[in-house]
Amino acid sequence: MSEFKQTFNSSLGKKLIMALTGLFLCTFLIVHLGGNLFLFRDDKGYGFNVYANFLAHFPPIEVIAYLLYLCIIVHSIYALVLTINNRSARPVTYVAHNDAPASWSSKNMGILGSILLLFIVIHMGDFWFTYKFNNVLGFKEYKTNLVTGDRTVTDFKPGYADFENSISTEGNNEIVRVKDLHARVVWSFSHLWYVVFYVIAMGAVSFHLVHGFQSAFQTLGWTHRKYTPIVKFIGTWLFAVIIPLGFALMPIVYYIQSLSK
Ligand code: HEM
Repeated sequence: MSEFKQTFNSSLGKKLIMALTGLFLCTFLIVHLGGNLFLFRDDKGYGFNVYANFLAHFPPIEVIAYLLYLCIIVHSIYALVLTINNRSARPVTYVAHNDAPASWSSKNMGILGSILLLFIVIHMGDFWFTYKFNNVLGFKEYKTNLVTGDRTVTDFKPGYADFENSISTEGNNEIVRVKDLHARVVWSFSHLWYVVFYVIAMGAVSFHLVHGFQSAFQTLGWTHRKYTPIVKFIGTWLFAVIIPLGFALMPIVYYIQSLSK
């Protein structure tokens, strides 16, 4: 076996891959939250639907998306393999001899990760699969007056089966026709049980990342007297507070709005 293969089959190699895939997934979360902020705009889903349409039809994004799915799968499988290997290496549980006591998050990474995996499967089934492969979504037509900025929105029925999107101009008006994923978000987040499930999952994101983000830096040996406190600060405030809170607010806000409709 080559030295390269040996390294990546070893327990350290697997940990390195988990750290790298984990950091890639953290980067995805920042971009995903940023894009989903369109949900907070009061524009009848225009910004969000145009954004979702762009993601689905811009080839470089599709390549990154496949890399993302690969990272989710590799990260999950290696987590499972490492857990099984660790258990069989030391059948008797013992108290860690570390000076610092292990945090609740670090001791429960497996269960937190499993909740997240379940969440990702259900979540992708609901939005990603529905958008790409399910014909239940309708289309919206947004007509924007380019002089005044006024916008009207109507349902749009395409004339043929595999219509994807269109953009055209008519006088001063820009006409954009896109799939209405926003309607699916509104519908999904009008169910209380689903909102509760999302909020619990975002709790798991928070606890998983408060340990995971800084742990990845440690595994990769990227520790430094001056920079490690910054990594801890980012891990705590950005990944364990701001990002999960931002995501959790989306279903909560949509649920509250659904009550007044
Ligand atoms: C409440 C918060 C969230 C909302 C409203 C939301 C919404 C969406 C929507 C609409 C899609 C399909 C279109 C797109 O790619 O943007 C999507 C895809 C996806 N989401 Fe989320 N998401 C949320 C939170 C999360 C979280 C916390 C994770 C990970 C832990 C996640 C992981 C994914 C993945 C992996 C995909 C597939 C990406 C792709 O193929 O481009 N989402 N999400």
